[in-house]
Amino acid sequence: MSVESLQGTVAIVTGAGSGIGRATAVAFAQAGAYVLGVGRRKDALDATAELHPGIAIHSADITAAGAPEAIVDIAVGRWGRLDVLVNNAGATRVMPLGETTAEGIAGLLELNVTAPSLLAGAALPHLRETRGSIVNVSSTYGHRPLPGGAHYAASKSALEQLTRSWALELAADGIRVNALAPGPTESEALAAAGLPQDMLDQIKRDEAARIPLGRRGKPEEVATWVVRLADPGSTWLTGQILTIDGGLELT
Ligand SMILES: NC(=O)c1ccc[n+]([C@@H]2O[C@H](COP(=O)([O-])OP(=O)(O)OC[C@H]3O[C@@H](n4cnc5c(N)ncnc54)[C@H](OP(=O)(O)O)[C@@H]3O)[C@@H](O)[C@H]2O)c1
Repeated sequence: MSVESLQGTVAIVTGAGSGIGRATAVAFAQAGAYVLGVGRRKDALDATAELHPGIAIHSADITAAGAPEAIVDIAVGRWGRLDVLVNNAGATRVMPLGETTAEGIAGLLELNVTAPSLLAGAALPHLRETRGSIVNVSSTYGHRPLPGGAHYAASKSALEQLTRSWALELAADGIRVNALAPGPTESEALAAAGLPQDMLDQIKRDEAARIPLGRRGKPEEVATWVVRLADPGSTWLTGQILTIDGGLELT
């Protein structure tokens, strides 16, 4: 890995106030990039920014009208360029078919599909200038079935297809587009899904038991691969979905 090549580059990381996004913001900053960490909770972003002086923050709901353009403008206005967009912010939702609502579907798609698309679109002119890259954070459920969470899985499937299509669409511009598909990773994601603590603990135990390496992942173990996918040294890698899940995919 040639992390030195990220020195002085500029990265936007969404969902940087916790979990994989926080670890990713820190990993980019440690690799020498200037990072704009985005999320809704200012206090959570402040805690991320305290971890490295290379991290600046912007509090925003990425699904709000005009937010994607504003986020890109802030990064480019501050540092004069944009090299990497990490579409990490996302949410899961337990929604069995019998309880599926239009509002539930729309919310998942808006956050996991529409907002990353509009961010990528807003970033595009700047990524063209730097021949930069986009990393989308999917999930192992982007290509595995998830009973009881079908629309989360479908939203991540969509993100994986966007990744492949954009990779071809933007190849002539020298922009690489890849995705990371993490397996169960320690973060605030499950708690944010609104499940009771005893159910959360049970899910975590079940997941750890199913993972060949015997445990859930740590955000840092995922973040290091986000950086590798974005690294300008990965010159010939585009359109790929890298699963990092302790071997779960093989079971
Ligand atoms: N953890 C896992 O097991 C796992 C597995 C596979 C894939 N993933 C994916 O990994 C990504 C990161 O999740 P995580 O596991 O690190 O969970 P997390 O700790 O819940 O992080 C999600 C982040 O997204 C931000 N966010 C949510 N809605 C937002 C919005 N409307 N606007 C701006 N920011 C928003 C949240 O911050 P605010 O609430 O402050 O906005 C939060 O910091 C997600 O795309 C998730 O689907 C996670």
